Amino acid sequence: MSLPMIFALIFTLFLSFYSSVLALTPLSEPPKGDPNCQNVSSILEEIRTYKNKVRVINEEIMLGSFKGSALNHLTDFVDKFGSRLTGSDSLEKSIDHVLKIMPEIGFENVHSEDVIAPKWIRGDESLKLLKPYPKTISLLGLLPSVSTPKEGMTAEIIAVNGFDELKNFFNQPFDNPVDGIKYRQFAAIEASKLGAVGTLIRSYATFTLGNPHTGLMFYEGGSLPIPSAEISIEDADLLYRLYKKGEKVEVHFKLLNEHVGNITTRNSIGDYIGSSKPDEFVLIGGHVDSLDAGQGALDDGYRVILSLYAVQVLQRLGLRPRRSIRTIIWSAEEVGRVPLGAKQYLENHLDELKTKYSIFQEADSGIFDANGLIFNGTSEAGCIMAEILKLLEPEVIPETKLVQNFSHLKTDIVPLMQATGVPGAVIAANADKYFWYHHSNADTVTAIDSKDMDVCLALWTAVSFVLADLEFMLPR
Ligand SMILES: *[C@@H]1O[C@H](CO)[C@@H](O)[C@H](O)[C@H]1NC(C)=O
Ligand SMILES: *[C@@H]1O[C@H](CO)[C@@H](O)[C@H](O)[C@H]1NC(C)=O
Ligand SMILES: *[C@@H]1O[C@H](CO)[C@@H](O)[C@H](O)[C@H]1NC(C)=O
Ligand SMILES: *[C@@H]1O[C@H](CO)[C@@H](O)[C@H](O)[C@H]1NC(C)=O
Repeated sequence: MSLPMIFALIFTLFLSFYSSVLALTPLSEPPKGDPNCQNVSSILEEIRTYKNKVRVINEEIMLGSFKGSALNHLTDFVDKFGSRLTGSDSLEKSIDHVLKIMPEIGFENVHSEDVIAPKWIRGDESLKLLKPYPKTISLLGLLPSVSTPKEGMTAEIIAVNGFDELKNFFNQPFDNPVDGIKYRQFAAIEASKLGAVGTLIRSYATFTLGNPHTGLMFYEGGSLPIPSAEISIEDADLLYRLYKKGEKVEVHFKLLNEHVGNITTRNSIGDYIGSSKPDEFVLIGGHVDSLDAGQGALDDGYRVILSLYAVQVLQRLGLRPRRSIRTIIWSAEEVGRVPLGAKQYLENHLDELKTKYSIFQEADSGIFDANGLIFNGTSEAGCIMAEILKLLEPEVIPETKLVQNFSHLKTDIVPLMQATGVPGAVIAANADKYFWYHHSNADTVTAIDSKDMDVCLALWTAVSFVLADLEFMLPR
């Protein structure tokens, strides 16, 4: 082709992103005499009285009738519906299913609320290395990437290791956003400004076995939208090496997607009604929509299952907290810059969210080696959360951690927390391993160990129960 067709191959710098996550400060042992903890000492004492109830919950899940059931429920769910991209029939069928089983599990006030969200359909996609030698490369187009021409396009690769190299190469200034996800999200914008006709991004992943990952990307800034896909770390490394050796690297790239416009999907809501303060809530939830790769088992099927079956555990054990536990199974999380289901719920219920909730809970770092919570709230609330976590030691988790840093998390509850000031918590786990699977065809139940699932269910159920039952809501 005679046109100057250029691909920018963008490499994400994962290590810096994860090292900052690892640098979080554990608060599991608040210093003795911490004035904030002293100030809530009567609440901490109250929490210690829950040791036996929490043990009963733990035993039921880890050793009793619920042992292994969480993974079985998740397997049934994802095998029945498959991946659940916003706009797909499988997503709406899975929501129908959630609404049907909620009353059977023990929820009341079960209903759905509509959410408007964009529908995008992945079409035919392929990537073939033509020069220096032929090779088929696996790819996954990003959402909502535009298409290539119908017959695909042939173009030469320019491989760059990050925005700085892109900038030096073309010697043009542009902004530098902050974390590792920026290449997936913004590379098409930056590369397009510099004349690229497409972007191939090294997967936003800590590890790949030849499997590309996918996810959300953005177009903006008046730049021409160009097709964008992720390739595996191995293939990105290969193309980069070939390019750096001075080879002419040429590919044929085809990505045929359809933008359907807006559709209506639904958040599913149900309450486990409190015994004496039914109008106050502890919120738990997960998002039922997924990407269209794998089964959406880790992202986010398991949190859906935890948020449903935590209530079944309490129901079976005859434990009904003072406050209500409200489960919201969000939709359209993956397709909005701000999670669309959560945004809609916030718009519909702002006043109530501000005043009636003790905490919003979700999970964002996956399920592997879960060891506590990542929490955002005042330090007094942090004392309370750390004390609740101690109730799980050592049967469920040998040593629990409370990490107070939400700045790297993007979950449904973040916009809720920001708009209301209500504290929030997500399960803390091995995020490095989570990002082996995240948004790829490897996100299936096969990746999940039953014990990990039980640990998360025990954590989820016990923390939610105690928070819902304590005399006071968490301080703001
Ligand atoms: C301790 O708690 C009380 C009652 O909640 C509050 O009024 C006071 O400001 C708190 N003191 C400190 C040092 O935070
Ligand atoms: C889809 O809905 C969003 C949010 O309501 C709106 O901003 C956007 O313009 C709509 N898009 C189309 C194509 O109707
Ligand atoms: C964390 O809490 C602080 C106040 O305690 C609030 O200003 C901030 O917005 C919260 N962060 C998130 C991500 O919700
Ligand atoms: C929170 O994490 C971010 C990056 O994930 C880091 O830049 C920041 O310093 C951390 N803040 C605290 C208080 O640990």
